[in-house]
Amino acid sequence: MNTLPENPIGIFDSGIGGLTVAHAIRALMPHENMVYFGDTAHLPYGDKSEAAIQAFSVKIANVLLQKKCKVIVIACHSASSAAYELLKEYVRHEAHVINVIDPMVDYVVKNYEGASIALIGTKRTVQTDLYSKKINERNKGITLKTLATPLLAPMIEEGFFSNQISREIIAQYLADPRLGQPDALILACTHYPLIKKEIEEFYEGKTKVLDSSLVAAQSLHTYLAANGLLNSPAKPESHFYVSDYTESFEASTRLFFGENVRLESHRLWN
Ligand code: DGL
Repeated sequence: MNTLPENPIGIFDSGIGGLTVAHAIRALMPHENMVYFGDTAHLPYGDKSEAAIQAFSVKIANVLLQKKCKVIVIACHSASSAAYELLKEYVRHEAHVINVIDPMVDYVVKNYEGASIALIGTKRTVQTDLYSKKINERNKGITLKTLATPLLAPMIEEGFFSNQISREIIAQYLADPRLGQPDALILACTHYPLIKKEIEEFYEGKTKVLDSSLVAAQSLHTYLAANGLLNSPAKPESHFYVSDYTESFEASTRLFFGENVRLESHRLWN
């Protein structure tokens, strides 16, 4: 096990959208060293098969273990859906694995007994339907309605949010009768915190919008604190790797991380 507090937190995603999770982690735990891996060579994961996402995830886990990460955070909902169990088993002697699904399930079960909850995410996340399985197992009388909203991630990546086009696309999706009029809506995709405000506006305050990045960061903090793994105050070092570097990915980092990030190239296959 990599169990020194100064070992970095490893975070990975299909691309740079997972920087929303890295940002939430940085805000809550500013002294932590961080290694981020965005698999830009293979995005989007949302349309990929489970087997493909599992193969990519194992490769990425190897990189994060090489960097001595004390914990691996699967920031991507599609990868959390497809590869969490496999990865947990694969790295069990070396690092703890946190996904973005279980913390949200715990949060919903604790706060929304008997409620009607909606969820939007990629095709992979919705098709795998892990949220429903995990919520139903807890028997809290919660109804979960889900909808794949595959246009949203590319729309946000292109910088289309807080404008007329994004508002119309969001409204089209959220008005879908399959979602009903929920008490709360889970943002089950790395990109969606950027359109949280627009979604809240659509519901006119009648539906609570739940941001997975914040809930996952909180769960990571709880784990590190409980295991004596929080780093002591220090100037943190962070590295942001991508499997395929382009200037446009680097330019988009500001959208998701709130500041420009220097991306380093790291191929997964030679
Ligand atoms: N990171 C993905 C997720 O959270 C969204 C983008 C993709 O499909 O790769 O599911």
